[in-house]
Amino acid sequence: MSQPIPVDPAMSPAGLLATLPVAGRAEIAPAESPYPLPNIPEEDDRLSLQHFILRAFLRGNSLVPSLHSSAASGTRASTGTWTNHILDKTIAQATAMPVTSPRRILDVGCGNGRWCVEVARRFPQAVVTGVDVVAPAKHYADAQPMPPNYVFVQGNILRGLSFADGTFDYVHMRFVHLGIPSGQWQPVINELGRLIAPGGWLECVEGLLPVETGPAFARYNGLFGAILAARQIDLAQPRKLDSYVRQSPYRFHQIQSRMVELPIGAHGGFIGLSMAWNMVLGIQNMRAFCLQAGLIAVEEWEPLLRAIDEEFGSMAYQAVMPLHIVVAQRQG
Ligand SMILES: C[S@@+](CC[C@H](N)C(=O)[O-])C[C@H]1O[C@@H](n2cnc3c(N)ncnc32)[C@H](O)[C@@H]1O
Repeated sequence: MSQPIPVDPAMSPAGLLATLPVAGRAEIAPAESPYPLPNIPEEDDRLSLQHFILRAFLRGNSLVPSLHSSAASGTRASTGTWTNHILDKTIAQATAMPVTSPRRILDVGCGNGRWCVEVARRFPQAVVTGVDVVAPAKHYADAQPMPPNYVFVQGNILRGLSFADGTFDYVHMRFVHLGIPSGQWQPVINELGRLIAPGGWLECVEGLLPVETGPAFARYNGLFGAILAARQIDLAQPRKLDSYVRQSPYRFHQIQSRMVELPIGAHGGFIGLSMAWNMVLGIQNMRAFCLQAGLIAVEEWEPLLRAIDEEFGSMAYQAVMPLHIVVAQRQG
């Protein structure tokens, strides 16, 4: 069991959060990215779980037509009403010229690199580049031989990346919404557009603040919301993803945009329960931050976590994380 973290009484929650260095927590420098989750092995493990959930829920690693894995035509996952309806439509409507044989693929905010490694194996003729503001604490590829066509490059999407215009024929960004301050979404989408070759594809999958939660999870959302607000992160912004893509000077067409609801908790079957576990792990990884910032008393932490866990296990709540998915092609 981890030791209680002493709270420094001199530390006030307000104002300090944006730059707070938390002892024992490998934080991404706030000057580089406001992303609040720590760069620790436990968090990389959680990202693996989250990757499997998203891959199962989205039924593949990509919705760009020819990149969509064979899972799309396979057996439907058994999560009741949750997995299929809108995404089937998304795939069916993605009738534009597909990326038939991708050569250069970029994944922005690649985390531990699982998505990249899987896509590199699926497309051995392509080079897959994963970019992240930090080298992961526990790189997925450390555990096994890395595919020779996968490279990791450290880079900050908020500062622009060091690749030439039009380098990639497919650019993917998934779940970087906690690392993009509210005024930066348009520049980020513009930078992604710059990197895509004419005729190439963009795919973004970003999350919004969970809704329809029980009171315990709502309380945590309040704490987390204070951290995000201090870092100028507004989780309503991903709702506007498609308009940022439309307004990009790099001119996209075939823009397809869908909101889907990723269930959290027992009401969402297997996917919902897995997502609930993912959320609990993520909350645990924020423990040091929340305690040291004085957002919650140490003796309140474990009861809160237990109450959240119970809510997720109860059918009384219908918590979901809305996701906004945008797929678009850069004009030729
Ligand atoms: C929730 S993880 C998502 C990982 C991966 N995309 C996935 O879906 O499995 C978010 C990642 O974005 C990275 N990130 C945050 N801010 C960033 C920035 N400004 N530039 C590049 N990466 C960033 C974080 O370091 C973290 O690895």
